[in-house]
This record gives sequence, structure tokens and C-alpha cells, in this order.
Amino acid sequence: MKYSLSIVVLTLAMGVFFTSCKHDPIHVDPNPIDSTGGGNSGSNCDPDTVYFQQEVLPLIVSSCAMSGCHDAASAQDGVVLTSYTSIMNTGNVKAGQPNNSELYEVLVENDPDKIMPPPPASLTASQIQLIKTWIQQGAKNNSCESGCDTTAFTFSGTIQPMMQTFCVGCHNATSTPGYVALDQYAGVVAATTNNRLMGAVKHQSGYVAMPPSGSGLTDCQILQLEKWIAAGAPNN
Ligand code: HEC
Repeated sequence: MKYSLSIVVLTLAMGVFFTSCKHDPIHVDPNPIDSTGGGNSGSNCDPDTVYFQQEVLPLIVSSCAMSGCHDAASAQDGVVLTSYTSIMNTGNVKAGQPNNSELYEVLVENDPDKIMPPPPASLTASQIQLIKTWIQQGAKNNSCESGCDTTAFTFSGTIQPMMQTFCVGCHNATSTPGYVALDQYAGVVAATTNNRLMGAVKHQSGYVAMPPSGSGLTDCQILQLEKWIAAGAPNN
């Protein structure tokens, strides 16, 4: 997924979403994953289908479910965006109707008090389109894992897009939780020292599990990261 800075015209204001605050327990998603139209076995994902588990959820978690915003503990405006169930429970997604879905509307909002995420954070045009297409296609809890190739692990082709989808919403130039920034090559390399990056994504003890909610990286993606680091973490 390309990260276009050109969309950073979203300025101003925090706004109305920082009002009520309630504390919900993290709940495990009870909905079965719908793997029709692709299958979980990993052979033929439909290139025109947007898959919730692999594409939409990681993006929403990374862009919206940070502490203080829409994680389970913060639940700003009563909205928790950490799983399919919590996203659908908000009532903010009307399947097939992005223009009636608040989850989409806040992304393209002109009112600086309502636009999400609050500036200076923003989604790229292609990220916004991804969410729109997912809603148009019925807002399903679908999943398809093919397309991950453990023999492909260049920084530009694999590692950077992976960071972009799963991590950069929280770890970027202006927000560096745990002193970790993952929007640039140097920051990703720095995070590999002392096994921090791998410890976090593999949920090893002694490290904070990353990403903090959502379905996390797949085994294939973890293997790609391991191979890239073993190859000397090249900037290729
Ligand atoms: C929703 C926000 C969010 C997302 C998404 C996220 N992180 Fe984090 N990350 C944090 C926060 C907050 C901390 C600091 C946690 C702490 O210190 O308690 C952190 C800490 C870390 C650390 C330091 C862990 C340690 O134990 O030293 C690493 C490494 C890290 N993140 C990597 C990642 C990677 C890689 C991804 C994507 C796969 C990711 N993070 C996605 C919020 C996020």
C-alpha cells in the first residue's frame, strides 16, 4: 500500500470524539470468519475483494485503536475499533452503504471537528478507498491469506508495506510509543536491536505484544520479517 503524503491536507482541531469515556473489557471476537470468495487455505484470494482480517482490521487498529482513542480501555465516544464485532457493534457501518456509514463518513468529513483520525494523523486516499470498498462489498468478516510469499522479503516490497498497514498509524514521526518509529527504514532497523521488533510481534515474554489488538501478523509475515533481519535488514 502506498503511503502518499499528498493527502496530508487534513488539518486542525481534535473535536467532538473526545467526550464520553467508558471502560469496556477487551472482548474476543465470537463471529466466525467468513472465508467465502477466497478461502483460508491460501490458494486463490480474489484480487478485487477487500479482506477484512488482512487489510481493513490492521489498518483500523493502527489508525484508530491506539490508547486514548478507540481501544477497549479508552473507547472515546463509546466507540471501540479493535475487532469485527466491536466495529459492527458501533452501528457505524451499514453494509453496502459507505455514504450511510459513519466509519467511512468521518474519514472524508470536511468539518475539522469531525474528521478522523484527528489531524495531523490522516489516512491516505488509497486507505480510505479500501475501507469504502470493503463496506460496498458488504462489510463482511472475510479473510484470505494467500499472497504472502515467504521467499519475498525486500524492505520496499514487503517489510515497509507491512509496517504501513499494521504499525505506522501508531509508530510514526510524531508518535513513537516505546521510542519506536516504523515509518522509515532507519526506525525499523533500530527497532530490530535487542530482539525488540521480533519479540513484540511474536508475543514473546518480556516484550509488549504488537500490534496491541486486532489479529496481528500472520506466521508468514513473521517469517518474512525474520528472514529480512537474518539477511542483515537490507534497505532493498
Ligand atoms: C494501536 C497502536 C499500536 C500499534 C498498531 C502498534 N503499536 Fe507498537 N507500541 C504501541 C505502544 C503504545 C507501545 C509502548 C508499549 C509500552 O511501553 O507499554 C508500543 C511498543 C512497541 C515496541 C517496543 C516493545 C518492547 O517491549 O520494547 C515495539 C518493538 C513495537 N511497538 C513494534 C510494533 C510493530 C512492529 C507494530 C506493527 C506490527 C506495532 N508496534 C503496532 C502501540 C502500537
